[in-house]
Formats: sequence, structure tokens, C-alpha cells
Amino acid sequence: MPTVTAQGKTIQCEAGANLRQVLLAHGVELYNGQAKVINCRSLGTCGTCAVAIEGEVSATNW
Ligand code: FES
Repeated sequence: MPTVTAQGKTIQCEAGANLRQVLLAHGVELYNGQAKVINCRSLGTCGTCAVAIEGEVSATNW
């Protein structure tokens, strides 16, 4: 089971889970300023939820 550490929180999630959804569900702030309201809601077109990842991860998809 993957472990995600962000903003002082350690979160366990299912393999293959959507990282954006996992972080938001656990109260991790992904967006700055107006991007909290104006973002693509995970379509992958705006880049406002970009994060840096360390460690082993699955292959990227669209
Ligand atoms: S909300 Fe993640 S790319 Fe737009």
C-alpha cells in the first residue's frame, strides 16, 4: 500500500489511486490563490496541481 507524505501528513492509499484526489481528501492544499477555484478539476490541462514526487511510482498516463 503506497504511503504519501505531504505538508506534514502521512497518508496510506490504494495502489493506483489518483494522487490529486488522495491529497485533497486528506486536506492537503494543492492550489495557490485563484487556482483553488479556477482549475481543470483533474483533467490534466491546467498544471495547477503539479507536485514533486520522490520514490517509486507507477508509469505516467494521460
Ligand atoms: S487540476 Fe491538476 S492539471 Fe488541472
